[in-house]
Amino acid sequence: MGKNVLILKGSPREWGNSSVLADQVAAGAKFSGAKVESIYLHSLDIRACDACDLCERGSGCVIKDDMQDLYPKLEAADAIVLASPVYWFTFSAQMKLCVDRWYAYQSSGWKELQDKQFALVLTYGDTDLYTSGGINAISTFETMCRFLNAEIIGMVYGTMSDVGDAERQPELMEQAYQLGRELGAS
Ligand SMILES: Cc1cc2nc3c(=O)[nH]c(=O)nc-3n(C[C@H](O)[C@H](O)[C@H](O)COP(=O)(O)O)c2cc1C
Repeated sequence: MGKNVLILKGSPREWGNSSVLADQVAAGAKFSGAKVESIYLHSLDIRACDACDLCERGSGCVIKDDMQDLYPKLEAADAIVLASPVYWFTFSAQMKLCVDRWYAYQSSGWKELQDKQFALVLTYGDTDLYTSGGINAISTFETMCRFLNAEIIGMVYGTMSDVGDAERQPELMEQAYQLGRELGAS
């Protein structure tokens, strides 16, 4: 059986740069035999974690919104890809809202998310990883993966602004495709 890869897209621009690179990851993973699903977070109703801590009881998150459909997909995934633009020197709000809601797994010690593989796609307008704040998103991602005992398969990131910029960077497109191939391989 092929691997199950879940891609979370955090940009409001459905055809934007991080999305295009995420699609390259998806294509590579499919080539390797994986089953891939991409989720456009901006289209979903995902409310902020309200820290009610009712998830401590072990029956999940009580907020009835689109995260309820996403939780089983997260649990079933062998690999999860976060694809986000850098907004104000870190992940986009859409991505952060989703990731905050993973707090619902606290009663099990985050067992549902542990030992998975992760990968990151990050795009930013500034010239490099540091001035853009991309480094902050990477630091968050690495810390999160360490916490979840998750293996990082790879990261693809680069400078781009307008829709269409990603396609003008064939090396980065290829890097994203190869990351997908690696992710999809058993
Ligand atoms: C609200 C907003 C905040 C942004 N903040 C940053 C930032 O802090 N650093 C940066 O380098 N680029 C920033 N950008 C530029 C985007 O990261 C860049 O255009 C990126 O390629 C967009 O990815 P997308 O096409 O996937 O939406 C910002 C753009 C927007 C709309």
